[in-house]
Amino acid sequence: MIKGFIFDLDGVLTDTANFHYLAWKRLADEIGVDFDRDRNEALRGVSRRQSLMILLDGYPATEDQIVSWMERKNGYYVELLQEIRETNLLPGVESILQDIQSAGYLAGLASASKNARDVVQKLNIGHFLNSISDGYSVEAPKPAPDLFLHAARSLGLNPEECVVAEDAEAGIEAGIAAGMKTIGIGPMARVGKADIVLENGFDGITLADIIGKLLG
Ligand code: BG6
Ligand code: MG
Repeated sequence: MIKGFIFDLDGVLTDTANFHYLAWKRLADEIGVDFDRDRNEALRGVSRRQSLMILLDGYPATEDQIVSWMERKNGYYVELLQEIRETNLLPGVESILQDIQSAGYLAGLASASKNARDVVQKLNIGHFLNSISDGYSVEAPKPAPDLFLHAARSLGLNPEECVVAEDAEAGIEAGIAAGMKTIGIGPMARVGKADIVLENGFDGITLADIIGKLLG
């Protein structure tokens, strides 16, 4: 029985993926490392430190440099976040969140980002969320199931009562590992392992459509 929905943030509820890219690109240009939008795809859903490692791709760095570059990138990202507001919710998201609440399901957030609470506040969606799990909640990053299990516990639900919505391959793997049903947001090539795939996100999709597909 489905009792709750757990949402990833970046790339599912809002397109902050572009802001992450612009911040990493600024850092990469300063360091002198090649980086473009294609290479950025590998950073989707990945933690800040892991993202830097992928970006550096073997470029030598001391631990002090790694820490300082992560801080510098986050500073650039936080600058860009100042522009975010309700209009940055992806199409269909507000109506799905509204339907979930009206139908009496629980909704939780499970984002790897340490900026998640700030983004939720700027998007003005806090009133739709019964719990927030973020980059401070667990140690092991996706594809480990830990963050989604944290979200389920916070909602007071068993994993099998939860549905995860994710745009990253590692996120779908994490949802499956957690024993939850999964909704993949984006292309089949990326999220094809999910129970259902919404190539265009929640645009034009109703909660009844989703539940019908998951249970049917
Ligand atoms: C994820 C994003 O939600 O959070 C990644 O998809 C990002 O791109 C990760 O690296 C960590 O975010 P932050 O804000 O803590 O650096
Ligand atoms: Mg994401």
